[in-house]
Amino acid sequence: PHLAVIVVAAGSGTRLRGGAPKAFVGLDARSILHHALRGVFCAPAAQVVVVVPEGYEGDATTDALDAAGDRGELVTVVTGGATRQQSVAAGLTALWGDVDTVLVHDAARALTPAAVFERVVAALDDGAVAVIPVLPVVDTIKRVDGAGRVVAAVDRSELAAAQTPQGFRRSVLEAAVASADADHTDDAALVAAAGHPVVTVEGDARAFKVTTAPDLERARSLVTAAPE
Ligand code: C5P
Repeated sequence: PHLAVIVVAAGSGTRLRGGAPKAFVGLDARSILHHALRGVFCAPAAQVVVVVPEGYEGDATTDALDAAGDRGELVTVVTGGATRQQSVAAGLTALWGDVDTVLVHDAARALTPAAVFERVVAALDDGAVAVIPVLPVVDTIKRVDGAGRVVAAVDRSELAAAQTPQGFRRSVLEAAVASADADHTDDAALVAAAGHPVVTVEGDARAFKVTTAPDLERARSLVTAAPE
């Protein structure tokens, strides 16, 4: 299969307050995006599309070419949109003609181990049209109303926390994104809404999404503790 990885890195990172769009905040000497791309280049990708905020195309190209090593010719940098879904759509428009399988990965999941990519790609190779890495939910989850009152407990044994990279047959993801009625926070939700089965593989705690300042501290300490 001809595999492309779309790395969405066009978020503003307002919850992080890192002084730059999130993907361009440093973990060590290198940015979140750079770390994310080093994981991405462990996958057998024929194309890597990096989706970034307007004005950051040059910075992203520098990071991507550095992380790519001798595979720099695989990199395409495109400008993202106002929502994650729009950024994914922008990434899809940049795919080369021979790509038939797509992974969509959050740059913010910068420390995702190569093994997660391998499990997602293996499920696609086994014939899945959509696959997501998941972890069991450890917190007790409540449904609450607009006033903050608990409406119901939710049985966490029926829940899973979705991570990325999420893998899709290209035609299925393109059709789902093209016909999307509302904004979804992940791609599997779109594909499931279009009626396709979505299978799961095991995620990894290190694939957590850097969202808040404590997440950033955690990512920084993991990078410092395990220099490559
Ligand atoms: O905002 P959140 O942390 O859920 O974003 C998940 C991923 O989607 C991040 O890697 C972020 O850069 C990306 N994103 C994007 N375009 C947006 C919003 C988020 O590429 N407009």
